[in-house]
Amino acid sequence: MQATAQAHPNIAFIKYWGDQDPELRIPVNGSLSMNLDCLYSRTTVEFDQELDKDELLIGGQRPDDMAVSRVSRFLNRVRELADFATCARVSSENNFPTGSGIASSASGFAALSLAASFAAGLELDQQALSRLARRGSGSACRSVPGGFVEWLPGNDDDSSYSISVVAHDHWDLRDCIAIASREHKSTGSTSGHNLAGTSPFQAARVADAERRLDLCREAIINRDFQAFAEVVEMDSNLMHAVMMTSQPPLYYWQPATLDVMQSVIEWRSTGIPVCFTIDAGPNVHVITTSESSDGVMEKLEQIPGVLEVMMGEPGREARLIS
Ligand code: DP6
Repeated sequence: MQATAQAHPNIAFIKYWGDQDPELRIPVNGSLSMNLDCLYSRTTVEFDQELDKDELLIGGQRPDDMAVSRVSRFLNRVRELADFATCARVSSENNFPTGSGIASSASGFAALSLAASFAAGLELDQQALSRLARRGSGSACRSVPGGFVEWLPGNDDDSSYSISVVAHDHWDLRDCIAIASREHKSTGSTSGHNLAGTSPFQAARVADAERRLDLCREAIINRDFQAFAEVVEMDSNLMHAVMMTSQPPLYYWQPATLDVMQSVIEWRSTGIPVCFTIDAGPNVHVITTSESSDGVMEKLEQIPGVLEVMMGEPGREARLIS
């Protein structure tokens, strides 16, 4: 009745923004991401007859009631599948600081899905596990398979899950994460997804998503950095255009965010393989090749307003530790 699992966060190259079904987290468009190897969540789940409610610790601390009830609702789904009612003790650690601006919901719910389903005696294949993780956090379904991962949007619970496009060792990319702020974001992605439809740009973003997915998938398969850079930056800008034109508008950028974006464009014009992508926060994920990563890290550290730079490489699938 106890298991521990580890999963990596992922950075989306083609973004998920907006749901067809917010309850089931069926997205309006497919998305594509890369798992980040050096960052991880490690989660232990123990179902215990003695408990009268679920208990949750994150980094040794009890989180707020909202986080506890989100995890409890997720565990209800596991209990439903396993056909029992036992409460669980859940303990999760991230090797990256929770306040660092790096989202832990993808790695957290991917690790929780694997640990909880195994502890409950369910033997789920990768597709079923990805579908389960999706119920906790949409992007978590992309942290279940390894390497470069595509979320097939589908239109119901059965058809919405992620698959690995190519393994982690297919392309030696690096994600240099420039931290522009350590503040907690004011509007989390869950409420952000609900606002997406209020932007007049969302329909255009979604209508063109399959074309961008095709371009990005091909660029990754062919290791074509120039084609990759163009579509990744375009997709990030489209999502932020939707965010900024939602009602109410969402502005995630800080001045340092824009400084990094402009520097990256300038570096690329000098021949360095580098591009940016930004999630629902101010930090910039600067994607480059392993050969160029030391130089890019050095340059990023010199930009005033960049507090810290972390580096990730393509990561594997979610896996059991014990
Ligand atoms: C901007 O998966 O965090 O990072 O399902 O509400 O947990 P919830 O949303 P989440 O949304 C991710 C949004 C994004 C883009 C992406 O990762 O595709």
